[in-house]
Amino acid sequence: MSTHSPSEKPNPILYSSAVSGMIEDGILHLTIANPPVNAISAAIREGLMQALDQAEIAADIHAITMSGAGKFFAAGADIKEFDLPPSDPTLPQVTARIEAATKPVIAAINGTALGGGCEIILACHYRIAVESAKFGLPEVKLGLIPGAGGTQRLPRLTGMVTALDMIGTGKTITAAQALEYGLIDQISAADSFANALRQAVITCTKTIIRRTTALELPAENANDIQAAADKIIVKARGRTAPAEAVRIVSLAATLPVNEALAEERATFLRLRQSDEAKALRHVFFAEREAGKHEALADYTARKVSVIGIAGTGLMGSGIAVAALAGGYKIIGYEQTADAAAAGHARITALLQKQFQSGRLSEAALNNQLANLSVSADITALSAADLVIEAVFDDYNVKSDLFRRLDGTVRADTIIATNTSYLNPDELAAQISNPERVVGMHFFSPAHIMRLLEVVNCARTAAEVLVTTLEVAKKLNKLATICGVCEGFIGNRIFSAYRREAEFMLEQGALPHEIDAALEDYGFAMGLFAVYDMAGLEIAWAKRRREASMRDPSAPYCQIADRLCEAGRFGQKSGKGWYIYPQGKRQIDPDITVLIEAVRTEKNITPRRFTAHNIISQLLNVMALEGEKLLSEGIAARASDIDLVLINGYGFPAHKGGPMFAAQHNKD
Ligand code: 3HC
Repeated sequence: MSTHSPSEKPNPILYSSAVSGMIEDGILHLTIANPPVNAISAAIREGLMQALDQAEIAADIHAITMSGAGKFFAAGADIKEFDLPPSDPTLPQVTARIEAATKPVIAAINGTALGGGCEIILACHYRIAVESAKFGLPEVKLGLIPGAGGTQRLPRLTGMVTALDMIGTGKTITAAQALEYGLIDQISAADSFANALRQAVITCTKTIIRRTTALELPAENANDIQAAADKIIVKARGRTAPAEAVRIVSLAATLPVNEALAEERATFLRLRQSDEAKALRHVFFAEREAGKHEALADYTARKVSVIGIAGTGLMGSGIAVAALAGGYKIIGYEQTADAAAAGHARITALLQKQFQSGRLSEAALNNQLANLSVSADITALSAADLVIEAVFDDYNVKSDLFRRLDGTVRADTIIATNTSYLNPDELAAQISNPERVVGMHFFSPAHIMRLLEVVNCARTAAEVLVTTLEVAKKLNKLATICGVCEGFIGNRIFSAYRREAEFMLEQGALPHEIDAALEDYGFAMGLFAVYDMAGLEIAWAKRRREASMRDPSAPYCQIADRLCEAGRFGQKSGKGWYIYPQGKRQIDPDITVLIEAVRTEKNITPRRFTAHNIISQLLNVMALEGEKLLSEGIAARASDIDLVLINGYGFPAHKGGPMFAAQHNKD
């Protein structure tokens, strides 16, 4: 088959546009290449099939290796092809072909192997990986299960408990874990990988081919398997895919492998067309889209090494922890030495907690502590490239801080406000160079919540916006850009949703009915239960402050006020929208009486609400508010609105966000 003389470097053999091979010393080294992540496209499937068929009959090939070009082995099936009908050869045909090969096929895992990429390596006869490789079957996160043999091969290598955990949660594991669990056979340092691979191939050619589907399931305790399955079902919260993953993985113990593989494939194809999978695909691409802005394409981010954080309370300390994890040097600022010491202690306690739970190594903890200082001297902030203010959300407090910052920090230091409700343009007007002011609206707790609304103020410079987005990425945040308006994207939609839910109470629904409908739909907690948990008094105080400015002709629902007037401030006071005997949430008949009294006062004849009515009405109102945000130019894309509600307000990702869901409700 090879036609080169021993002295020349052979030309690669092209099996398709995405699969090439080189024959060296009787070994066919295959490389799959589909940048940026080697997603397994039709061209990869065709190329692998061609290569395997030709290698099978080539007398000069004794073994085959498979690698990915670049940093990935392969990140899974090409999701962009999911809306097309499946075409031959399918991925399960390819994995079956790999496993059936009569010459040893060795996975030479150069980087991350996810989904169908991981299924390819599971079908190989031996797996050797670089130390930095990662592994996962994240299909459930896309509303799917593995569709190319993963559900049957993984348990035969790792046992059911690990397979259920990996496939049911979609988690990614390290090479060290993969070796420990039996998913791979060997790890090698990158610089000695070629040698280690050569040795592995020699060993494989001398031993009997080990086909994964022919292996016995490792013996395990039945209770442990049941517990692993139950854990996934409990966490599924309205999603179909995790339960299907459990069902299909469990077939490894009860069905002949070919029947189980057929059931796996049929389930995968059915789920691929499900509303859940379509919604999660929408979210996947929405997240990738969120970072792209044509208007910013020509600008480069400035270098940011030092971040100042003015105000190290609950929000500021969370922001500091996120920024320390992003590798930044942090200078906190408080007005007094005592407050600075308390802020330093708060941040340190959060870092210690991460260390104790194993999320932070000792070296990382020490490194981050060394990068942290909190001072009562505002001039310390003069070293900062970016200052994020996280002081009390009051106009006088913030504008005073802005003016003091103006005289302290460099003229080009970016100043970001974390305000939720104030107008950042008015704050920007307080200082020189307002084009360096931007909003960074974090969600609490800021080191945990992934969402960040980046507020593009009237005068914000494009370069400042690009720099803020870059910082957001390093802070591991999902950033969406929004314009200035009361509540930005999230709180504005949330207010419309909350208002509508309260009007529904007047119209005939009860709080627990609305909450049950929301929880059934996929929210972790119903709206009224969330209110009780957060406490009702702050919103009540705000409504009273704003009462004189309210348009008397605008509809107003008084039910929440009546609760507060009756001392029902939520869970802390033992009662709110529910009662909490022994801390347990229960429906309170007094609330029904209170709501009925308001209906009678307003002459409203109550109507019955089904769960479907409740959800449709709430979705409708959120989508209408979303349309307004789009037409006002506050949000650039409907999918950004979906991301905000999913990541900041508990909207279930598997429904795609309010804009997507409202659209699909109509279809
Ligand atoms: N198919 C198609 N495109 C993909 C893809 C995939 N599986 N995975 C990533 N991409 C694309 C992204 O859309 C993005 O495209 P863009 O540049 O046009 O926006 C580009 O690759 C880079 O992706 P990211 O921006 O996400 O890069 P990161 O480095 O941050 O993350 C990743 C890389 C961890 C691989 C992440 O993209 C990811 O999690 N991808 C999805 C992995 C997955 O779910 N695989 C399972 C697919 S289903 C399957 O395999 C079914 C099988 O069982 C039959």
